Formats: sequence, C-alpha cells, structure tokens
Amino acid sequence: MSDIITERSANILSIQLNRPAKKNAMTLSMYVTMAELLNGAAKDDQIHVVLWHATGGSFSAGNDIEDFMKNPPAPGESPQAQLIHALINFEKPLVAAVQGAAIGGGTTMLAHCDFVYAGESAKFQLPFVNLALVPEFGSSYLLPLRFGYTRAAELILLGGPFGAARAAELGLVTKVVPDQTLLATATETARALAAMSPAAIQASKRLMKNPLREQMEKAVQLENEVFAERVRSDDAKQAFQAFFTRRQSA
Ligand code: COA
Repeated sequence: MSDIITERSANILSIQLNRPAKKNAMTLSMYVTMAELLNGAAKDDQIHVVLWHATGGSFSAGNDIEDFMKNPPAPGESPQAQLIHALINFEKPLVAAVQGAAIGGGTTMLAHCDFVYAGESAKFQLPFVNLALVPEFGSSYLLPLRFGYTRAAELILLGGPFGAARAAELGLVTKVVPDQTLLATATETARALAAMSPAAIQASKRLMKNPLREQMEKAVQLENEVFAERVRSDDAKQAFQAFFTRRQSA
C-alpha cells in the first residue's frame, strides 16, 4: 500500500496520508510526492480544490524521526523544502481534515491551508525545542503573525500540546467538529469551493497571500539554514535517540 493515496472526483483532488502504523509521520518520499501532487494540481485546470486528510487515528506525527537521524535535511534543496515551496506557491484552496495527533510538521503544514477542520480528538504540538530543533515550514514567521507573539512563544518555546478548541481560538483551525463528521464536513466545504469560479477563488487567495509571500520565503530560507545545523547537533541526536529508547522501554 502506498504511503499517500489520491483520488480525483468532481474537480477535487483528495490527498490521503496513509502510513497509520507510524502515525502518518512524513518520510522523504512522502514530502516529494506531496510536493509533486500540489505542483501537478496547480497546473491542472480540472482540479479546483485539494482536500488533505489522513488514514487512522492520527493526522501526522510530523517528520519521521528515524529519517532525521539517517537523512537530515540540508540547508538548500531538500524534500521538506520542496513541499514548503509547493505549499507557499499553491494558489488553489487547500482544505484539511485533522484527527488525533498533529505534531511538529503535522501542525505547521496546516498553517498553509485555507480551511482546517479538526475532529474533537485532534491534539496539536510544536515540540521543536523539546527535540533541540527550531520551527520549520515558515512557522517561525506565520505563527507569531497568526497567534500573536506571546501565544506563539508559549507554544513554540515550551512545546506543550494543545487541543482542538485551543487551536480554533488561536485561528489555526476553522471549526471543531465531532470526529464522526470530520471528513464529511471538510468534503462539503471542498465541494462548495469546487463549484465556485476557480479564477475568482484563486485571484482572491493570491490577493490575501501575496503581501506575505516575500517575508515567508525569507523566513523559510533562514529556518532551513538554522534547522540543518540544529538537526545535526549532538543535543538533537540525543533527543531523537531518546524518543526511540522511551518507546522501547514503554
Ligand atoms: N517518526 C518516526 N516514527 C514515529 C513518529 C515519528 N515522528 N511518531 C510515531 N512514530 C512511530 C513509533 O516509533 C511507533 O513505531 P513502532 O510501532 O514501529 O515502534 C509508531 O509510530 C506508533 O507510535 P507510538 O508512539 O507507539 O504511538 P502513541 O499513540 O503512543 O503516540 C504520538 C503517538 C504521535 C503522540 C507519538 O508517537 C509521538 O509523540 N511521536 C513523535 C512526534 C514528534 O515528536 N514529532 C515531531 C517531529 S518534528
């Protein structure tokens, strides 16, 4: 079974993360596939909207920690950077449905979506500092802007978990719904968007996003440089090892 499953229907491209045994943690090939899917959808006139969801009880446990140890991202081009750029440049609406764990990149990637529906089970966390890392995916710029600095500082510097209701208060989540109706709610919005004028929707998104794009690109470039240094540091390597050791002794 593929780690990412796609389906096209009624001008909607559905992208489903499908690595439930590893809580949909993102591998290098998943980043590349996601980037290719978004770049392809951007050029495909038959696709008006992307619906992003996940198999199993979790949305995504973020970057695969084993990959961080074996293939740490480099400062320039990397699979992660490919997806960041695809997300920043994607002009069609992105609708996400989030249940269970949405950790690290599982949270920060959502900041690039236009609609984020969260099931009541959703649990978000930005444990970058806990892993001796720094925030990525443009979140060091976007989250203080979106949440206000003090709220972003609490979540990024202390790295504690927060629930769906708090995520909605912060503006990361559009609406909290029961898990049972999560996908149906997100699909309903995707269908409504798909039925509207694609040119008007894309021009509206561009107008809202363009003023931030240059700043975002600068933040991402800087983040990638600092992240590449941190992910190779001894304290990060110890934190990755501790994750697997904790699991083995649990
Ligand atoms: N990278 C690699 N593997 C991961 C992973 C990650 N980010 N998150 C979970 N997994 C794996 C576990 O190692 C385990 O694999 P195994 O069964 O082969 O040993 C499997 O997924 C299930 O995880 P487990 O921890 O047993 O599930 P849980 O329900 O107790 O907890 C999480 C789920 C998501 C809360 C927990 O796995 C977690 O905290 N993961 C790390 C998230 C993280 O720090 N991500 C940030 C990266 S920047």
